[in-house]
Amino acid sequence: MKYQGVIFDLDGVICSTDEYHFLAWKALADRLGIPFDRERNSLLRGVSRMDSLSIILEKSDRAYTDAEKTALAEEKNTLYRSLLGNMSPADLSDDVRSTLQALRAQGLRLAIGSSSKNTPFILERIGLSDFFDAVADGNGITHSKPHPEVFLKAADLIGLTPQHCLVVEDAHAGVQAAVAGGFDCAAIGDAKDDPRAAWHLQAFSDLLGL
Ligand code: BG6
Ligand code: MG
Repeated sequence: MKYQGVIFDLDGVICSTDEYHFLAWKALADRLGIPFDRERNSLLRGVSRMDSLSIILEKSDRAYTDAEKTALAEEKNTLYRSLLGNMSPADLSDDVRSTLQALRAQGLRLAIGSSSKNTPFILERIGLSDFFDAVADGNGITHSKPHPEVFLKAADLIGLTPQHCLVVEDAHAGVQAAVAGGFDCAAIGDAKDDPRAAWHLQAFSDLLGL
């Protein structure tokens, strides 16, 4: 690999928490009588919790106060965290586990760059709390993807400039963030065909062929 470090998005890249995000937002939208489906859900990938809520409420026929929005985001997060509570190291796929170990064996510096404030909890659930060289997440940033802040912070924490790092993303907002920060991006899953990505992955293990 021509890179010295890899920065991974978390939800939808390392683990399939993106499905739990959908289920929790769907339950909230249904309760409020707001139309929401998987197509709308793809707009929320990579986007912060409050920005996600704003996108959902665009389809509401009433306005919500800031206090109501805070309560709604909290309601979604409570349900989401109860779903996360069922996760265990068995939820890390063999493909991801073996690829991460192979990249580590190649001497690459490995980091997380996620918009999620639940990142520490998720890493703990799947048994990766101590695996990465650095974790940049939604708790320590001011601007969510598509702003590049979280990736720039991750690169800084592993002591590399963007040109020496690869970002792995499943969200169009994340691909945009990577490119804006001067990183090459490997796109997977929902964003696999994003033309802004330098690489298009069918499987996580395709990283080993770059
Ligand atoms: C991103 C997800 O990783 O984290 C988004 O792709 C989510 O869907 C965002 O909204 C924030 O997550 P959290 O866990 O802080 O609500
Ligand atoms: Mg993602």
